[in-house]
Amino acid sequence: VHAFFQPKYLRGLKMLVTAGPTFERIDAVRGITNSSSGKMGFAIAKAAADAGAELTLVAGPTMLCTPYGVRRINVVSAQDMLAAVNAEVAKIDIFVSVAAVADYHVLNQSEHKIKKDANILTLELAPNPDILANVASLADPPFCVGFAAESENLLDYAEAKRRRKKLPLLAANLVQQAIGADDNEVILLDDDGQHRLPRAAKEEVARAIVKHAARLYNKYHP
Ligand code: CTP
Ligand code: CA
Repeated sequence: VHAFFQPKYLRGLKMLVTAGPTFERIDAVRGITNSSSGKMGFAIAKAAADAGAELTLVAGPTMLCTPYGVRRINVVSAQDMLAAVNAEVAKIDIFVSVAAVADYHVLNQSEHKIKKDANILTLELAPNPDILANVASLADPPFCVGFAAESENLLDYAEAKRRRKKLPLLAANLVQQAIGADDNEVILLDDDGQHRLPRAAKEEVARAIVKHAARLYNKYHP
């Protein structure tokens, strides 16, 4: 559907979206990442821009093209993503955290390429900051939307995540169905309970999530 024909639910609102994986450096040529393609986050950014929002997209490493009209900031690590989000967060009305942020970074990073030898090599991993939880716990937070990628106990884990991070809206999906795929099946969790979206292309799922988020945003900000 052409952007022109999309209802402008988000006209006048500023939105920040994170998308894609992060890449945590091991040495000069290696790193740890995950199989996130960035498709869901980029689709959310496009759907929100088509709905009239002013979009900034903070993207981890992906080959995807920037949607029309979207301002893009490229980052590599979770720490970079946190810095980019912190620099933008005061200006925005809505934050949608779709990125598959690495939960850990490598402590003993090596400036040079590590040489192989016969010994066991140990990487020390230290926890990364939780970007979404940080934003949601600000004194005057934007309206925050999270994603939960689970491989089991989807609804229990996702609702616990929503409460722990204090999110008005969370989109829950099974990693087996979502990561790297072209379509997705999502359950939206909010204070009213569960809303199942039919399995569809990520573009269509994104439009439904944006519509739901806009409705909730307007409910909380009449
Ligand atoms: N998230 C984030 N910063 C992190 C980790 C996650 O902003 N360091 C965000 C993701 O973008 C997503 C939500 O938090 O919107 C949930 O991410 P997920 O990986 O499903 O949950 P975690 O809280 O990291 O817990 P776990 O991986 O143990 O399930
Ligand atoms: Ca995680």
